Amino acid sequence: MSLSLKAFLGTACALLASAGAAQAAEDSMDTVLGKALFERLWVSAPSSTKAADGLGPLFNSRACSSCHQGGGRAKVSLQEGDLPASAGLTLRVGAVKNGALVPHPLLGSQVQTFAVPGLKPESKLHVSFQTHVETLNDGTTAELRRPRIQIDGQDQLADLAWISPRLAPDLHGASLLERVPLTWLAAQADPDDLNGDGISGAVVMGQYGEQDIEPGRFGWKGDEPDLAHQISAAFHFDLGLSTPLRRALWGDCTTAQSDCRAAPQGADKGGVEVETTVVSLVATYLRALPEPASSAATEDTKRGQMLFTKTGCGACHASKAPAELADGAAKWFAPYTDLLVHDMGDGLADRAFDDSVSTVAGAHEWRTAPLWGLGARVAAKDGANLLHDGRARSVLEAILWHGGEAAPAKQRAAELPAEDRAALIAFLESL
Ligand code: HEC
Ligand code: HEC
Repeated sequence: MSLSLKAFLGTACALLASAGAAQAAEDSMDTVLGKALFERLWVSAPSSTKAADGLGPLFNSRACSSCHQGGGRAKVSLQEGDLPASAGLTLRVGAVKNGALVPHPLLGSQVQTFAVPGLKPESKLHVSFQTHVETLNDGTTAELRRPRIQIDGQDQLADLAWISPRLAPDLHGASLLERVPLTWLAAQADPDDLNGDGISGAVVMGQYGEQDIEPGRFGWKGDEPDLAHQISAAFHFDLGLSTPLRRALWGDCTTAQSDCRAAPQGADKGGVEVETTVVSLVATYLRALPEPASSAATEDTKRGQMLFTKTGCGACHASKAPAELADGAAKWFAPYTDLLVHDMGDGLADRAFDDSVSTVAGAHEWRTAPLWGLGARVAAKDGANLLHDGRARSVLEAILWHGGEAAPAKQRAAELPAEDRAALIAFLESL
């Protein structure tokens, strides 16, 4: 199939017109089209709706928006038992070869929980928890639960060395994050901790396709440099659709999954299922998502902000970062992240299947989570779902999971008098 974009765009316009969306008329047409594509339910090939086929053969969801509803974080309440197949939590997997992490020979880089008719999904995800209780100086207790994800038949997968559960993050504000310049990132980084403050954030530098080496900004591990790459990765791993940046028509299917590789695809050999125009329209929509807005400061939140700085949270959760505008000027904004990766200790690390803490390089490293929008996430109906796998049900739990480079800051926060800790949390929930 060559993507008949025009036909699809025509349908999308007709739909919008029929919805009489007055608001939409104010938005640029590209944003509206991008939103329609973000919400589009892709179908398996061959189909009569050529513009939307090519899904899978293995996939995790049929639409971007089913994991990022309204552009937000996955709405899932983690519970013991089987995770609903479309919960917005994905499982990265890998094997280790010569000390380096490589895709698993059978499962590839991600476990797909759905398949097109005639093929079997790779597995369901089964959740159990390891819990422990932490008691703070003032007697406050918090139950911390670490999800342990298992897949079907994993005992037979001896070379399955590494797993990494990831929750679909909030996408608001991506536009500014994308434009934080390398010069600023490099100036924040201190990989060998030369200044001796115990914080050694690193820029993730990667070679992306044929392009130059670029700094990573997106993903919980900060491994995708910009929206075009991140969106292409989502089409590839989550929907099984090919783009010019990730051309495999069969998505994440491995050579061992020959039935999957042989299944009908949505493009002719040499072509792709999702053209650059579509990737760009989706990026335009994401760039138009408004950045999270903080609520008005009160006496309490002002004190909390002071404590945030004093306890050392701001060393990673930077309250000011520059975005480079089209005219070269800098717009300073408050994402509360340095976009660098930090060693966060054993408690948050990805792990090996035998349950020992993984020794895979980077298993302990996570990109500083942006804290803007935290208030809205905590207030979400399905619960807060904080941290990369949604394990933390409150801001306090999220703080108590901090280890590694963040251990001293966590300790200082835990030792605050109850009233001060409440002010700190009030500040965080105002973001
Ligand atoms: C099955 C659920 C799922 C689907 C479907 C999905 N995503 Fe995601 N998305 C995720 C997860 C999980 C991550 C975090 C990935 C990681 O850390 O490696 C993510 C990360 C992202 C990010 C990076 C955000 C940040 O700040 O780091 C963007 C942008 C994004 N997705 C856009 C999309 C788009 C566009 C689509 C559709 C083409 C899509 N996603 C489909 C689960 C999903
Ligand atoms: C060494 C860097 C570092 C320091 C210091 C640090 N954090 Fe974090 N923080 C991170 C990283 C990295 C993550 C993401 C970890 C993950 O998801 O596994 C995170 C995640 C969070 C989250 C969860 C956000 C979400 O949306 O899921 C909260 C809340 C948070 N930090 C608050 C704090 C507070 C409060 C302090 C100070 C007491 C602090 N952090 C100190 C690096 C740091």
